[in-house]
Amino acid sequence: MVRAIVTAAGERFVTPLAVSALTGERVFTDLFSLTDEQEIGHIRLAQDCDLVVVAPASADFMAKMALGLAGDLASTALLATDRPILVAPAMNHRMWAHPATQAHRASLAARGVACVGPGTGPLAEGESGPGRMAEVPEIVEAVMSLLAGGPLRGRRAVVTSGPTFEPIDPVRMIANRSSGRQGHAIAAELARLGAEVTLVSGPVAIADPMGCRVVRVETACQMRDAVLAAGPADIAVCAAAVGDWRPETVSERKMKKVPGVAAPVLTLTQNPDILATLSAAGPERPRLVVGFAAETDHRDDNAAKKRAAKGCDWMLANDAVFGAPTNQVRLITADGAEDWPLLDKTEVARRLAARIAAVFGETP
Ligand code: CTP
Repeated sequence: MVRAIVTAAGERFVTPLAVSALTGERVFTDLFSLTDEQEIGHIRLAQDCDLVVVAPASADFMAKMALGLAGDLASTALLATDRPILVAPAMNHRMWAHPATQAHRASLAARGVACVGPGTGPLAEGESGPGRMAEVPEIVEAVMSLLAGGPLRGRRAVVTSGPTFEPIDPVRMIANRSSGRQGHAIAAELARLGAEVTLVSGPVAIADPMGCRVVRVETACQMRDAVLAAGPADIAVCAAAVGDWRPETVSERKMKKVPGVAAPVLTLTQNPDILATLSAAGPERPRLVVGFAAETDHRDDNAAKKRAAKGCDWMLANDAVFGAPTNQVRLITADGAEDWPLLDKTEVARRLAARIAAVFGETP
């Protein structure tokens, strides 16, 4: 059964009656319709389905989705649903290429929203370029693959992301600049391919990815405990920037600065290495363990050594630049290494998840 919501802009192109003739169901248009609310209600409309498809997804509508605006029935339903979402963008090529649209596309992707198209070719205004809505058979194929559950269906994955905070006293801590963007994007992508994902995240300022169970932690020890509690998993991806050390003792009270008294000296102790622990987990070891190596010097050498030292299967070497939307990685496996171009972090996640799916004998 297909239920359609037609937006006010959509009604300028097609009438709800024409859409209703195609779906064989009544068409919903108005957030404030009392009849609709009595019959189904916009929250149930958002929940009572297997998949939500936005086609065509205009630049304006993608911006609304990215920002979580809910001013009409379609955007409200999208904000209220926890079902998988597929967007098929359609717009002028300049609007598609605009940094605002690309930022919205990336933030939707990071939340696990699937995207089909746009294609390249003639556009409505007599121009040509990327912006054409994907052809209907392509959209149908994407729908079928999402409904089938994806190539990682039945696989369990645990992903670490973000920084850790190691307290010094109730107000101070040792932290790092990790944004969590790469780890969150990987969790979203694995979930999109059907894996059952637990994302163990340090404190970050970005949204939870869709379709994942999120466990929030602060310290490395909490992260290790949450990762082990989430197992056994088939796949582990350690993308968190785990603090290597924590203060040996945490002051229960705020440390005071006393005039004339020397600055305190912090004694640090080593944190557990989550990646190494998972890699050496014996029968409980995930079949595929993936780590990241953030390096400022001798990146490729250090990353290869780190892979061997930690015992993980794959290591993704990257430059230790935190917070950027892009990443340039080198994938190091037992079979050798390959350099990926500079890519959006969501694209790195997409490639990595596709490689992971291939290990499990499936191609997305
Ligand atoms: N890692 C981990 N637990 C730690 C430290 C690191 O799980 N206590 C993981 C990270 O998530 C990453 C990989 O190990 O996947 C490498 O992290 P990185 O910070 O580059 O390496 P370190 O082991 O911390 O080594 P160094 O800081 O000396 O480069």
